Amino acid sequence: MSNQKGFCLWFTGLSGSGKSTLSRMLEPELRKRGCKVEILDGDEVRENLSKGLGFSKEDRDTNIRRIGYVAKLLARNGVIVMTAAISPYQEVRNQCRAMIGDFVEIYTECSIDELTRRDVKGLYAKALSGEIKNFTGISDPYEAPENPEVQVNSESQSPEESLAAILEYLESQGLIPATAAAKA
Ligand code: ADX
Repeated sequence: MSNQKGFCLWFTGLSGSGKSTLSRMLEPELRKRGCKVEILDGDEVRENLSKGLGFSKEDRDTNIRRIGYVAKLLARNGVIVMTAAISPYQEVRNQCRAMIGDFVEIYTECSIDELTRRDVKGLYAKALSGEIKNFTGISDPYEAPENPEVQVNSESQSPEESLAAILEYLESQGLIPATAAAKA
């Protein structure tokens, strides 16, 4: 639908907590509803837009500001932009919210115990042994959002349940049409 209003779905959460998974699951759901969609995934952004940046607070803030800037450009042109970076600092997330305006913060909650158990990329083991320094949640801060528009939990919910909760919120706010909701 051509009159779809753009906005930003800003995922935040620890590495492995489900940000990328949920954004990838949302993409076809939003397209089914006729929406234009882009995903700015943390790992991908660090391969191109933010290549060369590390994980100091300064570099993370620079990374997040870049993502926020691109998200703003896309959102104001009718695109639903999903960002999937850890974005550990509240202040920079708030700056992005102020810059973008139409901003839905989604907190993907998951305990360190569970993330360490899953350890899909093998990074938690390395962080715990000290091989990787300044690892978010282990040896570097993560500031959980205090008032996210949506909070999901990959320990207590299936990905499908989290997806449904996000879609329900977006529909209830009139941000997306509800039409295709029942389709698989
Ligand atoms: S952010 O802090 O700047 O938002 P971003 O989402 O781009 O982080 O990148 C996080 C990804 O980088 C993690 O999922 C992980 O694969 C990798 N990574 C490598 N080193 C670290 C680290 N020290 N802390 C967190 N993630 C790291």
